[in-house]
Amino acid sequence: MKRSLYRSVPIPSSEITPEHVYTNRRLFMKAAGTAGLGMLLTACGVQPHDLTETPSADQEIDATTDELGDLLTSYTDVITYNNFYEFTTNKTGVSSLAKSFVPSPWIIEIGGLVSNPKAYSIEDLMKKFAQEERVYRLRCVEGWSMVIPWIGFELGLLLDDVEPLGSARYAAFTTLLDSKQMPGQGNPLYPWPYTEGLRLDEAQHPLTILATGLYGQPMPAQNGAPIRLVVPWKYGFKSIKSIVKIELTDRQPATLWNTIAPNEYGFYANVNPEVDHPRWSQATDRRIGERGRRETLMFNGYAEEVAGLYAGMDLKANY
Ligand code: MTE
Repeated sequence: MKRSLYRSVPIPSSEITPEHVYTNRRLFMKAAGTAGLGMLLTACGVQPHDLTETPSADQEIDATTDELGDLLTSYTDVITYNNFYEFTTNKTGVSSLAKSFVPSPWIIEIGGLVSNPKAYSIEDLMKKFAQEERVYRLRCVEGWSMVIPWIGFELGLLLDDVEPLGSARYAAFTTLLDSKQMPGQGNPLYPWPYTEGLRLDEAQHPLTILATGLYGQPMPAQNGAPIRLVVPWKYGFKSIKSIVKIELTDRQPATLWNTIAPNEYGFYANVNPEVDHPRWSQATDRRIGERGRRETLMFNGYAEEVAGLYAGMDLKANY
C-alpha cells in the first residue's frame, strides 16, 4: 500500500531534490529556516502525550504523529533517556553529564574518495542546506523505541557537494574525541572515538539525514549536538552523534560496535524482527511512554522505501 504522507514543501526543495523523491516523501516537512527560530507549537488533530516540558511556546512543530499515526514521544523522554556512551552508559544519567558540553565552534571535515574535500562550520551547513522537519522512529537494538520530530537535511545533499569519486563505496563517520568534555571516553572498554559506517547508497538514500535539532530546537547535547546522523530503518547505534568527520572509502569501515562484538552488532544493523540479537529477541519493542510492547516492523516500518537496497542479499547473514 502506498501511503501519501507528503504534507507541504514550503522550502523550494524541488530545486534541490529530484521530483520523484520529494513527491513520494512519507515525511512531515516544515520549513524551519534556522532550527528553533520563530516557531509555534500547533496541534494537528492528535495531541502528543506529555508535552508539558516542551521547551517554548514560540515553537512550531508540524506533526504530532509519525506517518503511521504513532504519537510523538514526549520531549522530556527524548532528552532524558539517551544512549551516549561518551558521557555514561547510564541512559538516565546522560542529560545531566552533557549539560556542560560546548558544541561550538564545530567543524565537520568531509574527505576521502571525493573530488572536492571540504571542512564546514556548523553555521555554514545550516545556511547551505535548508532545514526541514522529519518525524522518524528510532529503534534501539536494546528493544525500546521512540518517535522523534527531527530537524535536519539530507546527507545526500552534502555528499553531492563534495563530489564522491566513482571508487567511493562507503561512508565512515567519526564522533568528537574530547575526554575533557566527554568523561565516558575515559572508559577503556571502548575503542574511542565512536565510529560508524554506511554503504554509500544507504548514505545517499533520501531517508538518511544529518539532524541539527529536534522538536524545533537546536540539538540538545545529550542527543548529539550539534549534528548527528539519523538512519531510521537501522538500529539506533548506527545513528552516530556529534560528528566531526565523514570519509568516503572503498572498503567497509570499522565501526565501534562491530569491532567490539561482531557477532552481536553487524555492519548493516537493519531493523529486522526475524533476526534476533544473540542474547534477546528483536520481534517486539517497547515504545517509551507506552505500556506493553509492539510488534517491530521490518526495516522499522520503512520497507517500502529501503527494501530495494538489499535485493538479493541474505539479511540473516548480513545482519
Ligand atoms: N553516538 C555516539 N557518538 N555515542 C553513542 O553512545 N549511541 C547510539 C546512537 N549514537 C551513541 C551514538 C545508540 S545505541 C542509540 S540507541 C542512539 O544514539 C540513541 O539516540 P538518542 O539518545 O538521541 O535517543
